[in-house]
Amino acid sequence: MLRYSLLCLAQAFFLPIIHAQQQIALNSVLPFSSSSVVSIPASSNSLAISVALCSSPSNQPHFLFTNNTKIGTPTEADLGNPDVFEIVVTDGIGNWMGYATNGGLLAATVVGSVAYEIAVSTSDPIHQYLIQQYPLLGDSTSNQVLLFSPVFQNISTVTPSYPNYSLPSSQSPFSSPLPSLNPRFNLTLVPTSTSSPALTSLPRSACALATIKSTGTVVNQTYWLKDQAGWRSRLFIEGLTPQTNYTVYITQDGTKVSGPMYFVTKSAGFNCPLVNSLPYCPSVSWAVPLPQPPQGIYDASNLPPTISDPLQQYIANFTAMLLTFACGRDIYSPMQTCADCQREYRHWLCTVSFPRCGEPSSSTQAALIQRDTTSSPRNVNFPQAQSAYTELLPCLETCYATVRACPSFLGLQCPTNQFNARASYGVGYIDSADGYKEGGGSPGAAHDRYGNFWCNDG
Ligand SMILES: *[C@@H]1O[C@H](CO)[C@@H](O)[C@H](O)[C@H]1NC(C)=O
Ligand SMILES: *[C@@H]1O[C@H](CO)[C@@H](O)[C@H](O)[C@H]1NC(C)=O
Ligand SMILES: *[C@@H]1O[C@H](CO)[C@@H](O)[C@H](O)[C@H]1NC(C)=O
Ligand SMILES: *[C@@H]1O[C@H](CO)[C@@H](O)[C@H](O)[C@H]1NC(C)=O
Ligand SMILES: *[C@@H]1O[C@H](CO)[C@@H](O)[C@H](O)[C@H]1NC(C)=O
Ligand SMILES: *[C@@H]1O[C@H](CO)[C@@H](O)[C@H](O)[C@H]1NC(C)=O
Ligand SMILES: *[C@@H]1O[C@H](CO)[C@@H](O)[C@H](O)[C@H]1NC(C)=O
Repeated sequence: MLRYSLLCLAQAFFLPIIHAQQQIALNSVLPFSSSSVVSIPASSNSLAISVALCSSPSNQPHFLFTNNTKIGTPTEADLGNPDVFEIVVTDGIGNWMGYATNGGLLAATVVGSVAYEIAVSTSDPIHQYLIQQYPLLGDSTSNQVLLFSPVFQNISTVTPSYPNYSLPSSQSPFSSPLPSLNPRFNLTLVPTSTSSPALTSLPRSACALATIKSTGTVVNQTYWLKDQAGWRSRLFIEGLTPQTNYTVYITQDGTKVSGPMYFVTKSAGFNCPLVNSLPYCPSVSWAVPLPQPPQGIYDASNLPPTISDPLQQYIANFTAMLLTFACGRDIYSPMQTCADCQREYRHWLCTVSFPRCGEPSSSTQAALIQRDTTSSPRNVNFPQAQSAYTELLPCLETCYATVRACPSFLGLQCPTNQFNARASYGVGYIDSADGYKEGGGSPGAAHDRYGNFWCNDG
């Protein structure tokens, strides 16, 4: 009896707790909920080992890794060894990048229970914050919002050449039908006021964000080329509350995190519907002064042809005129090509052809102009507005970008600050009001990730 209990004590006090080693495959993710030892395969590629906490730990877990197989399971006592590394977790995510040509062991020590993930990649860390790549706000109404993920796949642009200098069609600037990658995007969208407890108490990893219940319903999610920066996921959300501040995170493949981004919904009386997904104007994703469509929001299938047909004709006619120049043979600028000119013209035309409804805010002095039912619409192909609205003017820089990109024989001109530019454009927000100091305006941008828009840059 005595011998038996002594043996138990000996086991409890002197023998280390041995966890079965678990093998992880390269480029995969494993979930855990208690202490573990994970064996990392040998690889001649550089490796990125990452960890993510999926719930709030009562005590900070420790992650130790060694790429020296002679060391065995690394412990705190091995930390002086140059082949033993601590993976420090910040805001729920940590990683180690280097070589483990003979493989290695990762020891995770947790007290109590905490959900976490371990991943090994032969390229970028699988768990990561997309630094400086915030979700983009298209626009909001009183209860809907259009959002875009950061770019997940670049597009390659082919520069046309003389004598067969062809430009994208008026119907679409992009020929790519679908991205080759197929990432899964998930959204975390919560009112900012109540988000604070949920978001501050949880780690900000994708697996932790997935446990937060989002407000609203994602009614449509597609991949979209908003501009030549590349493919994004476009999300259309309904069921929000008027005049409410929201916080947004977008996660990619359950491991990459983008955010936080903020926006505010419009007041209950805001009645401009959203328009989006127009192949000929891919950047347009905002609220316009049109009657509410019978269902859903405006896209290529239900936008009145009285608006879309002339717009595409303008692009086609402009392109035909541009091509009378010997594009690709003669040069009109060391910096710009006919392709740049057509792209900027389309961007400008789409921005001014779809007047953007806005709403005054207490915190920002935006380029807003009051329009009533008797104002003639900025785009003559738009019907007379049925009710008064506030227009957020295009940024003057979208006009100047077109003039700069195009040959002078086209005779394009923008209004100047002295000659009434402020009646039709937002002036001095991106560049200084005299136009000479690039980025020298106040605030130096058209919009920010706090949901503020100063002028419409398309
Ligand atoms: C272990 O990692 C260190 C630091 O990155 C590196 O210098 C060393 O070559 C690696 N050892 C092996 C066996 O890959
Ligand atoms: C796309 O290209 C830009 C600039 O070349 C680069 O900074 C960015 O990381 C690329 N994005 C992706 C998803 O490949
Ligand atoms: C000109 O280029 C376009 C697009 O690159 C191609 O489809 C067409 O066949 C080319 N035409 C000639 C005559 O080479
Ligand atoms: C989602 O939007 C696209 C583009 O506007 C449209 O073609 C598609 O029908 C929509 N899907 C749903 C389920 O509404
Ligand atoms: C939204 O947040 C901003 C900035 O914190 C604040 O000034 C504003 O009052 C909030 N708006 C609403 C409707 O809560
Ligand atoms: C995204 O959310 C859905 C529904 O909440 C969930 O079933 C799915 O596992 C999530 N996917 C990722 C990649 O997080
Ligand atoms: C485009 O050009 C055609 C032919 O010259 C002309 O009939 C049409 O009115 C033009 N369209 C616009 C919108 O200017």
